[in-house]
Amino acid sequence: MGLTIGIDVGGTKIAAGVVDADGTIGARANRDTPADSVDDTAAAICDAAAELIAAHDVEAVGIGAAGFVSSDRSTVLFAPNLAWRDEPLGTRVAEQLKIPVVVENDANAAAWGEFAFGAAKDVEHMLCLTIGTGIGGGVVIGGELLRGAYGVAAELGHMRVVPGGHRCGCGARGCLEQYASGRALVREGRAQAEAGSLAAMQMLTECGISDPAQLTGPMITEAAAAGDPCAVELLEDLGRWLGEGLASLATMFDPTTIVIGGGVSAAKDLLMKSAQVAFERNLPAKANRPHPSFGLAELGNDAGLIGAADLARRPAPPAEKTR
Ligand code: BGC
Ligand code: NA
Ligand code: ZN
Repeated sequence: MGLTIGIDVGGTKIAAGVVDADGTIGARANRDTPADSVDDTAAAICDAAAELIAAHDVEAVGIGAAGFVSSDRSTVLFAPNLAWRDEPLGTRVAEQLKIPVVVENDANAAAWGEFAFGAAKDVEHMLCLTIGTGIGGGVVIGGELLRGAYGVAAELGHMRVVPGGHRCGCGARGCLEQYASGRALVREGRAQAEAGSLAAMQMLTECGISDPAQLTGPMITEAAAAGDPCAVELLEDLGRWLGEGLASLATMFDPTTIVIGGGVSAAKDLLMKSAQVAFERNLPAKANRPHPSFGLAELGNDAGLIGAADLARRPAPPAEKTR
């Protein structure tokens, strides 16, 4: 297969690109993500893809979507942080564009991108977490993307880390996503400021705001990079949750390489150092087993786009009989 289109549907931006078999992006087309409307989102995806299809000879479209995706790769069953509920996204886009369309979980797509072309291109077993608004997971074992019986395996952000903890968008309590995501980072920063912590007030000043409600994840990362103690601590705490969660995940999947991507990973060492320390410390049987390597996504923000485009060239996996 020659060229395919990869589309990463984020909370604020829809990023589309034409990708070749080596994972190189040619032309791009971006749109803003329409707020709260699944119809407008499908239309914006079609619009971006149509722009690329008009100018390039492409054979299929891969869409990375932030939710639980059915095993036939056409329907978003549920999205904890977006409006999709049983949304036949792939079918709708395929009908409109008259081209084969494959929908993949956004983090599966990012993991695949890093496995095929990025930080894990030299290994056969890898695990990827994307840290953004939510936490996405992707697992490649023996060179195969783990999908489970119904397509929804590797929803690693919903592993419970705190019994009875914070309520999650998935309906459960205490998911890793509630402790180590961008949204958790902001929640903790705001809570500290609202509690009147002097250090947190100083952080707001450093961010150029006075109302805690205006605080954002990128602001915290920037403040931490400038040395603000409260922001540094917030990112270190996030990293600790992440590292502890990854220690549990490594007991399940035994990967060669762990890759961290997503918007919050822009904090780099401010996050990764404490994550790695917590990981090494909490890995079961740590003194008697090989430890996986630990690193940042190499493809950055393009991992999902590139991975979705590459997965669109591959045949659908066999589905479980009952679905
Ligand atoms: C969703 C995943 C998604 C992740 C990152 C989670 O809340 O359940 O499907 O991959 O967020 O977008
Ligand atoms: Na996933
Ligand atoms: Zn959850």
